[in-house]
Amino acid sequence: MTAGRERSTKRGADAGEEGSAGPAYNEGVSNDPNTAPDPVPHRADLGKDPSRVSGMFDEVAPHYDRTNTVLSLGNDQLWRIATTRAVAPRLGQRILDLAAGTGASSVSFARSGAEVVAADFSPGMIAEGKRRHAGIPNLTFVEADATNLPFDDAEFDTVTISFGLRNVVEPKKALAEMLRVTKPGGRLVICEFSHPPAPLFAGLYRFYNNRVLPVVAKAVSSNAPAYDYLNESIQHWPAQSKLSAWIREAGWTDVAHRDLSFGIVALHRATAPSAATSTAASTASSTTPNPAHGATQGTAPSTKAPEAESTPTER
Ligand SMILES: C[S@@+](CC[C@H](N)C(=O)[O-])C[C@H]1O[C@@H](n2cnc3c(N)ncnc32)[C@H](O)[C@@H]1O
Repeated sequence: MTAGRERSTKRGADAGEEGSAGPAYNEGVSNDPNTAPDPVPHRADLGKDPSRVSGMFDEVAPHYDRTNTVLSLGNDQLWRIATTRAVAPRLGQRILDLAAGTGASSVSFARSGAEVVAADFSPGMIAEGKRRHAGIPNLTFVEADATNLPFDDAEFDTVTISFGLRNVVEPKKALAEMLRVTKPGGRLVICEFSHPPAPLFAGLYRFYNNRVLPVVAKAVSSNAPAYDYLNESIQHWPAQSKLSAWIREAGWTDVAHRDLSFGIVALHRATAPSAATSTAASTASSTTPNPAHGATQGTAPSTKAPEAESTPTER
């Protein structure tokens, strides 16, 4: 392990050699992912420097997918299948897979014939994705920051992000950007670690994360200490209902979620307001523009759902 690697790990690697870098939230305030206030990156260096996150992913890119499969006990494949079903890609659609990494999910969207753009801000992950999936003409890799996307308004039918939002330093800004680039009536699908609601299972899961994962990580990764950060970032990431509230606040409608693997992962879905809704909303909100959406935006409704609002769950 190089000194540089050591530094980047300490600042934010949360899944070690093949895992996720990312800010953790709300340290010292509350550990309840539903009641904790909005994100305050507590590993300050990482929060201020997304390039460290990007750099860490550059380093882990070659072995990222394999170790994910080992550490998730193969469940990552099931989560990707569920995500692909939720995205429901079709020929003729244009799909943005954000924080796509090496394109592990993007490739299954592309099988439908849809035009898929796999965007990530880690050049190393993008390079690995391009190398692996060079022969797929309808899959394009683009280097892009989720909080400042290099795409026009309303370019995509569906925007999706898998195990990426938790790693974005400003996730709410990313949610607003995702809405900006989605067509009115288009869809959002987020696959992300979450919080098992059943206390008994939640206890078992904590035991796995705290006791088993570090041992397995040591066996399969040369960067085992970084797995502490995976555990930490998952613990501090908002639970299902709070993430739903964030999505609504960003302007998405029809927000719903479904638990996978008893809530270890949650699949959130939402719809971009239709053109009629967004026109009415942009008129109503013309005195309070959302700077994150830029001058041409009119897609975010002015109504903000309260944090406590219940979230429909899908079964
Ligand atoms: C845990 S990986 C997930 C990769 C892939 N989506 C998957 O399911 O395997 C998280 C990815 O988020 C990317 N990422 C983190 N912050 C980002 C940002 N602000 N903009 C774009 N990508 C970002 C990282 O570079 C990394 O590739």
